[in-house]
Amino acid sequence: MNDKKHSKNKRLLSVAPMMDWTDRHCRVFHRHISQHTWLYTEMVTTGALVYGDVERHLRFNDEEHPVALQLGGSDPADLATSARLGEKWGYDEINLNCGCPSERVQKGAFGACLMAEPQLVADCVKAMRDAVSIDVTVKHRIGIDQTESYDFVRDFVGTVAEAGCRTFIVHARNAILKGLSPKENREVPPLKYEFAYQLKRDFPDFEIIINGGIKTEAEIDLHLQHLDGVMLGREAYHNPFVMAGFDQRYYGDTRAPKSREDVLEAMIPYIQAQLARHGAQGLKINSITRHMLGLMTGLPGARAFRQVLSDSKKLSLGDPALLREAAARLRIAA
Ligand SMILES: Cc1cc2nc3c(=O)[nH]c(=O)nc-3n(C[C@H](O)[C@H](O)[C@H](O)COP(=O)(O)O)c2cc1C
Repeated sequence: MNDKKHSKNKRLLSVAPMMDWTDRHCRVFHRHISQHTWLYTEMVTTGALVYGDVERHLRFNDEEHPVALQLGGSDPADLATSARLGEKWGYDEINLNCGCPSERVQKGAFGACLMAEPQLVADCVKAMRDAVSIDVTVKHRIGIDQTESYDFVRDFVGTVAEAGCRTFIVHARNAILKGLSPKENREVPPLKYEFAYQLKRDFPDFEIIINGGIKTEAEIDLHLQHLDGVMLGREAYHNPFVMAGFDQRYYGDTRAPKSREDVLEAMIPYIQAQLARHGAQGLKINSITRHMLGLMTGLPGARAFRQVLSDSKKLSLGDPALLREAAARLRIAA
């Protein structure tokens, strides 16, 4: 047994911020699978909050807690304003994105290119910390472009820490700013977990969380021998039931985990409540059920389940009982 298990560390396990994926509906779904796993929003830019529709970007459901708001930006004053809004709306943490390599984000001069400007990141962190009383954390890569040396990320963390940041989420591969798409940037640059381990050795008092390519409890256990937490991205989305045992195994929760069917049933009243609030015109149930396609991953009949949940005719009826039909089809197909 790993001595980090049953730890009180609230961010021991987390689901990564993922644009278009980890929206509020997805987070409610994930919350029904694990009560304790720390959840992140998609990245919200400071522009969207300073000039846009704040409610659209920040509203979330009470049952999502604990949930962190990830911000994208590089202007300390705008980040402070956005962080303050995040705290006011009830988020449990503010996270700054220093890892996104997309060209659109680079044009705004934030995301991964901020790793080249550690002092600016420190200024941003300071401005946000001065504005809020919740944790301010940073998610970053281990380098940008052709940087090979560990010193780059060590100096980045050291400088940002001077502004008081104590939690660093390390996507353990470089970001290539030119020539690779965001998707390739999550696959091509090699993972170097050792860099994150070395950060923990160099900064033992900081909370260092690792991210990138992690899929199984065996892998999580290995990382927790070196680090304070593990963040799962794509695996949590495509195979969300991987989180089913997390509460018991890592947070010491003694309640029995929900079955897949329990999770489906729990989502039905949620969809009904959303329909009641937004109306069938305002909310297509596909915007919720699309996040649930992976629930049966690995089971015989999973394909039949996905087919029902992807059937546009059935979805257009807007009846959440479709979830029961999908489960029944899975049982027949299995
Ligand atoms: C569809 C998608 C959207 C993403 N959007 C964000 C984002 O908004 N902010 C961010 O910091 N990382 C984003 N990421 C990167 C993930 O947070 C994570 O760092 C990456 O997927 C590596 O972890 P994994 O191998 O466990 O998926 C995104 C990843 C995916 C697949």
